[in-house]
Amino acid sequence: MTNPNLRPTDLPSWKALSAHAAQLKTQHMKALFAADDKRFDKFSLQLSSLLLDYSKNLITDETKAALLALAKESDIEAWRSRMFAGEHINATEDRAVMHVALRDKSSQPILIDGVDVRPAINAELERMRKLSEKLRSGAWTGYTGKTITDIVSIGIGGSNLGPLMACEALKAYSDKRFNIHFVSNIDGVQIAEVLDGLNPETTLFVISSKTFTTQETMTNASTAEKWFMAAAGDKAAIAKHFVAVSTNRKLVTAFGIAEENIFDMWDWVGGRFSLWSAIGLPIVLFLGYELFDELLQGAYEMDQHFQTAPLAENAPVMLALVGIWNRNFLNYPAQALLPYDQCLHRFPAYMQQAEMESNGKSVNWAGEQIAYASVPLVWGEVGINGQHAFYQMLHQGTDIIPADFIGSVTPNIVVEGHHDALMANFFAQTQALMQGSDADQVRRDLTAKGVSAARIEEIVEHKVHRGNRPTNTILLNKVDARTLGALIALYEHKIFVQGIIWRIHSFDQWGVELGKVLAAGIQPELDLAKATNAGHDASTRNLIDFYKRAKAGK
Ligand code: F6P
Repeated sequence: MTNPNLRPTDLPSWKALSAHAAQLKTQHMKALFAADDKRFDKFSLQLSSLLLDYSKNLITDETKAALLALAKESDIEAWRSRMFAGEHINATEDRAVMHVALRDKSSQPILIDGVDVRPAINAELERMRKLSEKLRSGAWTGYTGKTITDIVSIGIGGSNLGPLMACEALKAYSDKRFNIHFVSNIDGVQIAEVLDGLNPETTLFVISSKTFTTQETMTNASTAEKWFMAAAGDKAAIAKHFVAVSTNRKLVTAFGIAEENIFDMWDWVGGRFSLWSAIGLPIVLFLGYELFDELLQGAYEMDQHFQTAPLAENAPVMLALVGIWNRNFLNYPAQALLPYDQCLHRFPAYMQQAEMESNGKSVNWAGEQIAYASVPLVWGEVGINGQHAFYQMLHQGTDIIPADFIGSVTPNIVVEGHHDALMANFFAQTQALMQGSDADQVRRDLTAKGVSAARIEEIVEHKVHRGNRPTNTILLNKVDARTLGALIALYEHKIFVQGIIWRIHSFDQWGVELGKVLAAGIQPELDLAKATNAGHDASTRNLIDFYKRAKAGK
């Protein structure tokens, strides 16, 4: 393995890519397509779960070769083996990174710190299956003997976004046995709206928190408990209405949740990669265990592809490399995620945490400030809605924003006349972003419409689309559980590969701590009887005082 302290900018491939980028920036993708009718074949990959077309990027054979050299020189394969072998690659937290173990469908032992964790993983899966069956069969009843109708999942970040995204994506497969609700925000409006209309006798709360210390989750959990106790009266009833998922049994028990209702997870599973653990319990309860198992299966298949496919044919690796090219060599500042499938409407929010909490770092493994860009701003929205909102900027704005377009051949709910109209837009947008429309074309189009020559010259520049805007297209057969599992794992491994190339620690999240600590100090100051800390900067102090005066009605 090469020296892990080597800076990527010192690698021969990085230098070659920098020089190559300077030259390729003068080219237009439209010309590259015209010059090479094999471009799609060369720059796309077909897997059993999805098709990845990355040909609409400003790349050539030479770019791909140099990017693959970067992957080799960055020791991607060795690092990948280290992750799958359970080594402590999360060095700052001194932990293994083994979310892949949770979906490992082989029967091999999975050693983490010398212990085979497979029995523990299987035991938790079995407990999840049993709870789901008890609930779904009606054998599990609430404190008055009624069956459960509503599940309220309380958690935030990685303990919320994955189950929420997956339940939304797959709700067409629900047998409508339960209603599911998610609460993450400490803003009381959200939990108040969720609880309004629910019956405590038929509601089950799933409190999900890896640490069981997260303020938002603990506050919401205690509000839920108060709401429940106001109706039930008897503490013993909690055992029938509250279950928890956490690594911290002690705190869960102290909260009052019965031992047998605690589902374990482990510190070698990062929060934003924890959907595959018992954090996925809301998915199991809402959609049934078999469907969750399919989700795991899809992810496992992507793990195998990631581990075995040659780098040039490896979808996560190529997605990562194209992202590196756009970010570090073409200097694009952002990455849009644009699902053209309503089922995936929470996918951008989910991936935003996965990408930005993982790779939003500016210090390398050696603790030095890095002199190159790490994760771009990742954002997105259902594409078709975006077309009528922010696509103007994607087509003609001063910044070039690479975008991933994700669509499906078959929708989960077929409504006559809709899907081809949606997909026509899906195909048209990446074409438009790539080829654009030059002044001559605009003139021809306007002339054909009978617009006068003088008017054409007034507006022509405003109608020009310069194109050359990169996109990846990911085409799924259908958003079913297996495909969704593969899609998520595709991006997880992309994140991993990029973190290795950037030489940053992708699996910690120290950047979220400072704000939490300061908030804990500020909260008591918001009590009108207490003085505001004079040590705050003038902006923060005055904002707090303004808030307190307004709160006091002064
Ligand atoms: O604040 C960030 C974070 O630590 C995430 O990494 C995590 O997913 C989320 O908070 C929730 O943490 P927990 O599951 O411990 O409540």
